[in-house]
Amino acid sequence: MSYIDWNENLSVGLNSFDEQHKKLVSIVNKLYDAMKEGKGKEILGQVFSELIEYTKFHFKSEEEIMFKYDFPGYKEHLEEHNKLTKEVLELKDKYDKGNIFITVEILAFLKDWLSHHILETDKKYGSFLKSKGLN
Ligand SMILES: [Fe+2]
Ligand SMILES: [Fe+2]
Repeated sequence: MSYIDWNENLSVGLNSFDEQHKKLVSIVNKLYDAMKEGKGKEILGQVFSELIEYTKFHFKSEEEIMFKYDFPGYKEHLEEHNKLTKEVLELKDKYDKGNIFITVEILAFLKDWLSHHILETDKKYGSFLKSKGLN
């Protein structure tokens, strides 16, 4: 069973971003599976890094398109991305220093982080960009 199941509620109405969100969900699931299977620190660290790299790529993709179409909520969205990036980098830093382990709490944080951001913040650009004819 997956840790997070992507479902239509999480759709922002744009295929390319739905695909990117599915990929993010799948990396969090991979992290969960690796933790559950008792994988070593190195493997967990690699999956954690993969999540961070993909998050950066994804945020940048969203920011570029919001900027291009002059989305009115661009600035707030950018601030939220910066805040989330900072939080996840801090977690990774603690993890690398051995101060924390990948635990259910960290996974819960990531799950909450992802679903909240998609449900509340990303959906706003979804309807805006759809009104500009994107799909
Ligand atoms: Fe997103
Ligand atoms: Fe976003």
